[in-house]
Order: sequence, then C-alpha cells, then structure tokens
Amino acid sequence: MCGIFAYLNYNVKRDRRFILEILFNGLRRLEYRGYDSAGISIDSSSSSDPNGQLSFSPLVFRQEGNIDSLVKSVYKDVASIKLNLEELFCVHAGIAHTRWATHGEPSPKNSHPQTSGAGNEFLVVHNGVITNYEVLKETLTRHGFNFESDTDTEVIPKLAKYVFDKATEEGDQSVTFSLVVLEVMRHLEGAYALIFKSHHYPNELIACKRGSPLLLGVKELSEDMHSGAPFLDLKFISENRHPKELFLSSDASAIVEHTKKVLVIEDGEVVHLKDGGVSILKFENEKGICGNALSRPSSVQRALSFLEMEVEQINKGKYEHYMQKEIHEQPESLTTTMRGRLKRGGSTKAKTVLLGGLKDHIKSIRRSRRIVFIGCGTSYNAALAARPIIEELSGVPVTMEIASDLVDRQGPIYREDTAVFVSQSGETADTLLALEYALENGALCVGITNTVGSAIARNTHCGIHINAGCEIGVASTKAYTSQIVVMAMLALAIGDDAISSQARREAIIDGLFDLPSMLHLAFSFNRSLDYKDLFYCTVVHLGKSNMFLPCIFADKVREVLKLDQEMKELAKLLIAEQSLLVFGRGYNFATALEGALKVKEVSLMHSEGMLAGEMKHGPLALVDENLPIIVIATRDACFSKQQSVIQQLHARKGRLIVVCSKGDAAAVCPGGSSSCRVIEVPQVEDCLQPVVNIIPLQLLAYHLTVLRGYNVDQPRNLAKSVTTQ
Ligand code: F6R
Repeated sequence: MCGIFAYLNYNVKRDRRFILEILFNGLRRLEYRGYDSAGISIDSSSSSDPNGQLSFSPLVFRQEGNIDSLVKSVYKDVASIKLNLEELFCVHAGIAHTRWATHGEPSPKNSHPQTSGAGNEFLVVHNGVITNYEVLKETLTRHGFNFESDTDTEVIPKLAKYVFDKATEEGDQSVTFSLVVLEVMRHLEGAYALIFKSHHYPNELIACKRGSPLLLGVKELSEDMHSGAPFLDLKFISENRHPKELFLSSDASAIVEHTKKVLVIEDGEVVHLKDGGVSILKFENEKGICGNALSRPSSVQRALSFLEMEVEQINKGKYEHYMQKEIHEQPESLTTTMRGRLKRGGSTKAKTVLLGGLKDHIKSIRRSRRIVFIGCGTSYNAALAARPIIEELSGVPVTMEIASDLVDRQGPIYREDTAVFVSQSGETADTLLALEYALENGALCVGITNTVGSAIARNTHCGIHINAGCEIGVASTKAYTSQIVVMAMLALAIGDDAISSQARREAIIDGLFDLPSMLHLAFSFNRSLDYKDLFYCTVVHLGKSNMFLPCIFADKVREVLKLDQEMKELAKLLIAEQSLLVFGRGYNFATALEGALKVKEVSLMHSEGMLAGEMKHGPLALVDENLPIIVIATRDACFSKQQSVIQQLHARKGRLIVVCSKGDAAAVCPGGSSSCRVIEVPQVEDCLQPVVNIIPLQLLAYHLTVLRGYNVDQPRNLAKSVTTQ
C-alpha cells in the first residue's frame, strides 16, 4: 500500500550515482507494498550561483510500472539532460516512492513525488489516504492553484506552498520547514506517512505521520569517535557533526542493511532532519488513533531503538521468490514463534505456556463474556482456524468479525468483551478502524501481530507478537501458520487447568513441540529430553565439534514440505483450469478458505473455499467431471462426515483431490486410487492440523502461479499492508 523512502547524507561525500542507487535499492525493498508506478526526487546541482549562493533545484522523475522501469527511465533522463552522475555532494536529501494506486490510475502524473507546481518548491511522497482532499483542493483552487494529477496527495505540497507563501508575505522570513509542515498537518484528515523535500529548505527533510507506519534509521559513519556516549541517544547523535547517513522508510526492510539504529516515528510527530541533527515536534492526538483533532505541538526527546532483524531475513537467499522462501522457512518461523513460550519437562515435568505480553490480563480475558476475533483476509482465516480450540479450552463463547464488516454494521462490542485483533502487518486500515471502535466501546483489546511497534501493537491493551520474522511475499504464508500457533498458545494460556482437560492440554503442547524441529526447541527452551523423545531419536554428528546429539524426527512441517514436487505435478494438471473448489469443515473450514484465497490471489484462478456442511445446500450444483475439487479430510471428529461428503461428490463424478492423513488413502477414496488424487499429510493433534494442512495448498498456489507465468511476489492489483479503507 505504497512505500516511501528517503536518504540524507551529512558531512560525507556521496556522488549522484550512489544517491540514486540508495534510493532505488530502498524502493526495491519496499516494492511489495505497491508496484504500479514509482518516482524519486534528487537535487540538480550543488554548484554556486554568481552571488556565491549554493543553488539547489529538486528534479523529479516519475514512471508508470515497477522499480526496474523507473530505474531505466531515470538513467535515460539523466543522460539526456547531461546530469553528472559523478558530481559529489557533502550533504544531499533524496526522496522516493513506490505506489499502489488509490486515487487516479497508475501514470507518471499520478506517481509521487507530488509537487506544489513549477519550480518544485515543495515535494511530497505519501503512504495513506487524505480523506478531506476534495475540500482542500477546492479551497486551494480558489487561491489560484492548478491541479495536474488525480491524486489525493497533490493537495499536500500545494498546501505547503500556500502556508509558506502566506508566512513570507506576512513578513515571516524565518518560517522553518517544520512549522510549515505542522501547519499543513493541522489541515489534513485521514491516514498518512509523509516525507517532504523543498527547494526553500535545501538538504533538509521532514517526515510526519498519522496512522501509516514510518521509521527513521541513523547510521553514524564514525561511531568509534563518541566513546562512552550513549549508543542510542538521539540527542547526542543530533548534536555531533560527525558524518552520518539518515534514512526514512515505510518499514525496516529498507533500513536494516544500512543500520540497526531506528526511531519508530509516532503519530503526530514531525521529524526534522537538518544539519546532521534530528529534532522532533509532536502534536498530541486528542481523538482516537485515526482521529483528527490536534493540540499544540511541543518538542520531544526520544531514544533510538535497536532493530532485531537480520539482512538475510529480507533476502531471497537460495529461493527464486519470497513466497517460496517463506513457505519453506515455516519450520524456522514456527520455532521462533514458540521460542521461550512453551515449557515441558524439567524437574516438575509440568507442561505450560508463558505469554509475557498477556500476563497481567489473562484473568480478565478468562472472565470476559465473549471473545471476538477481528481481522481481514488471511489473518481472519487464522483466527477462524483457532476458534474451536479457544472455545473448547476457555469455555468462553467466541465470535468472528471481518474488520470492515464490523465497522460497517457498527456491530455490538461491549465492555465485557475481549476483542482480539489479528494482523500480520499491524497496520491494516480496516482492522485499525475496528480497533478504534472496540476501544471506544470499552472492550479489552488484545493485538496479535508480526510487527513490533505497529499501530495495532501500540494501540491495544496487551498482545502477543507472532515472531514469524519479516514477511515480504504479498501472499501471507508463514505468518498464517504462526498466527494459528500463537492462538493455540492463547487457548492454553486462558483455558482453565482443570484435571479433566489436563491430558488434552498436554497433548496440544506435545503437538506444538512436534510441529517444527524439536531439536531446535529443546535447545531454545533448555529442556531436558524425556523417554518419549528418545524413543524417536537417532544421533547426528555436529560438525567439527565431534559431539553427537539426539535428533528428533517429529518435525511435521518439514515432512509436509516434502510434498513440494507432488504439488508441482498437481499444479501442472490444473494449470488450464478456470475454477477450483476447496471443501473443509471443523478445524479445517479455515484451511478451505485460506487455501482458496492463496490460489486465487496469486495464480489468478477462480477458487472458492466452502464449508463442507453447506455443500448440499447449493454448491453441489456446480459439481461435474471437469471442476477440480479439493476436500480436506484429515483425521479429526469430522472425518466420517468428510468421508460421506467425498462419497456424495464421487457419486456425481466429481473430480476429487483429497488431503488426508498419512495411510488414509484407501479410507478416503471411495472407488480406489483411480477415483481421486490423494495428498497424504502427517497427522498432528486435531487443533494443530490446519498448520500442516495449509502447506500443500500454499505450495499448489505457488507452483500454479509460476507455471502460469505470473509474478508470484507481485500479484495483480494487490499489495501488502492495506493501509487504506
Ligand atoms: C492474503 C493476505 C491478506 C492479508 C490481509 C490482512 O495472502 O495477505 O488477505 O491477510 O490484507 O493483512 P494483515 O494481516 O497485515 O492485517
């Protein structure tokens, strides 16, 4: 949903080519947020004019298409206007944008930076939506401004020029860049993260936000020079004149390769980068998260934080696509999701779950009248998969809400409710609005997100971080399985520990241990291995250390990933199909919805996930010998019902593909192996089976897309982090 990026070097010489490449690289990292058009602004020259004044004039390059198209067109334009790529700048401020169109079709005029008009006095890159842009446009038009684009963003640089002109006309020659932006912000409604550059304020940048995410990264090029100085002290960093590079970005993925020192900019803050310093003015929000009322700004001091992220996490490594990488790294992402949170063995042999982020709220959640899960898309499906186990262990009624629908209906949310907000990005606009609504209604709000410092993480009362690692593929895969695991742990944490449910609880904890490599988990939890583990053990040789350690084979996710080739073969058979149905029920109704969502969003094949119990009530009419139908029929309480669904589909000559537990092929294929294609998956505890079952469908979606020749990481019309309503 648009990515914005900026780079400012201070007291260190960088040539124009270097600056361009940093901006392009930043955009490539953010491309998953939008890829229909892109643009940048850099300075034309730092040379002196005849009066000895440095003359700067921002140049703007905008292009329809992805980042590669922008790069090509910029180098072409740079050559045609004979811009010197080797020209050195001791200080230079560049801004960049990659777009997912909301207002106006993808085209150069609608791409960012949007400008105040001729001379590029003010330039803005924007992520979000300005909801009152029509009123502002009307007012500015009355003041003589001409609009060239169809975007909501264009009002922002024009408003900045209006504010600047008015201040200087009134004799205020000293109006600062941050005062101009503060005044602009006062008039903006909606959600936004903005970066401003201006001809009037050369080598300065302003970043501000409300609702949409924005980070500042600080790279000091001589850290050894400030011995003993507080490492993350922004004030100290601002006051020294040491060479440094500053980065602004919609997310950490474009910053981490340069520096791990970051400031997560907060709503209402105006961050001013000038003369190697960073100053922050803040509006205190008087209304909710997305509210508009702004108080007087005051200066604030903040400390930087340290990014817990490695560059390898944002590279594709040995994989061709991010989606492929993220599917295959699920054994590791699930391990990190559970690390430090599950305990089994030790002296008491007790099996427990520790969720630090909830520790002060567990009792209130248990006492709530109802738990309401709220999310969109894949995150909603993950909550749906976890709903039965939460109901079973907690005894608290659970209802499900698609975030936009809850807000549309203004559905009932009460003080006695616990509202759980599930979101990979933690920034989804629909989910945020639902959160604002639930807060207004007095519910206890719990966040389950993958993004530390995201709006949902910050604005909920408590929460659980899913720790799946950075997810870049637009189609969510590893976040989905980690979300289910987090919610299974939530069920264990809020469930009562009655003797009657003890065996069930312990079986789930064992099941969680069995999903990813138990060897990893054993180390992460410093857990002693018990006889059951040893039963499954063999011995591995640990590199040069000449140590032999037990290695446990209960690694169900790695096992199911071995279906990769089989799913590719299936994809080859389905490549030309128009449509696909997926039937599931119980724990695996969510698998049906999520499997179908994966297939449709990346391979562009129509696919529908359906509740198998509803089959006879309409969908059966679609069944013939041509339409491929996937039925999820792994072993659980619904197994026999799924067997009869398969029988009924078979009787109508349905073209069946059945996902079943290992060894169940004969039990699920009514007329033997010729009547259906079987995908056998390892069996796990029933409530965790959705984690295993979705993986072959993720693989199918991936291979179908690649075989059909589409870009799996950039599905048509989509973008990650939907920060607009
Ligand atoms: C599908 C997908 C989307 C997101 C949805 C919510 O693969 O990724 O359906 O799940 O846009 O996003 P988050 O989880 O970031 O709130």
